[in-house]
Amino acid sequence: RVFRAAGQGEGQLPRVSLLTFWTPPTTARLTVETVPPLAAEGNDVLLLACNVPENPLGYAWHRGERVDNSQLIASYRVDTNVTAKGPAHSNRETVYPNGTLLIQNITQKDTGFHTLLVSKVDLETEGQTGHLSPHPLGCIITSNNSRPWEHKDTVVLTCGAETRNTSYTWWINNQSLPNSTRLELSEDKRTLTVFTVTRNDTGPYVCEARNPVSVSRSDPFTLNVLCE
Ligand SMILES: *[C@@H]1O[C@H](CO)[C@@H](O)[C@H](O)[C@H]1NC(C)=O
Ligand SMILES: *[C@@H]1O[C@H](CO)[C@@H](O)[C@H](O)[C@H]1NC(C)=O
Ligand SMILES: *[C@@H]1O[C@H](CO)[C@@H](O)[C@H](O)[C@H]1NC(C)=O
Ligand SMILES: *[C@@H]1O[C@H](CO)[C@@H](O)[C@H](O)[C@H]1NC(C)=O
Repeated sequence: RVFRAAGQGEGQLPRVSLLTFWTPPTTARLTVETVPPLAAEGNDVLLLACNVPENPLGYAWHRGERVDNSQLIASYRVDTNVTAKGPAHSNRETVYPNGTLLIQNITQKDTGFHTLLVSKVDLETEGQTGHLSPHPLGCIITSNNSRPWEHKDTVVLTCGAETRNTSYTWWINNQSLPNSTRLELSEDKRTLTVFTVTRNDTGPYVCEARNPVSVSRSDPFTLNVLCE
């Protein structure tokens, strides 16, 4: 998608007056890539600007699928390295000199399209849209063995999907974990290993995942220990 610019105000990025749909045949198209593609609430996300046109004058990031100045997050001028915050800036967004946008501590409010506009040396502009959909921590307990045998099997319980900067808490029978040589938490506490299970290890187990913007507690999980 190419946005044609009309006029350029003092110290401003070009205004956009009309859209054309034309792809330059020889150059790679500007694309926006969300990294990581599936981020949980509370994590940081990069909207990577890839194949940015050569020698850009500046970048402008907007919320939404269109270039709307009332939805401007920030604009960045390459010659001065100056970022100007827009009305849609929430103090968690950073535009890098390569056009990439960092959004920290994402929440459900960040869900949706984000549109990058690159101002080029020929005073034309090129735009591209990326999408963000933070998923809730939504933690559930999974076991690597649904039918372990008593006195025989070791079971690994895992709390939720892997996300960054999340802390975990576990309970067994509504109590915090007892001191036991048969229980072992991983360093990040996301997994709990129960060595050689016994009939007293059925639980229920509950875990909670917590990060700066979100908390999620699992449903109780019962271990179905098979006895001879
Ligand atoms: C995670 O925590 C580390 C250190 O505590 C910090 O440097 C980093 O920015 C945090 N990352 C996120 C996604 O919050
Ligand atoms: C742009 O810069 C940021 C921060 O240095 C980096 O994480 C990102 O990978 C760069 N983007 C591209 C497309 O190289
Ligand atoms: C992200 O959340 C952490 C923890 O609440 C906080 O310390 C940090 O300042 C936040 N970062 C931004 C950019 O809001
Ligand atoms: C579950 O993980 C434990 C520890 O790694 C391992 O000993 C056990 O064999 C695994 N169980 C199954 C069914 O894969």
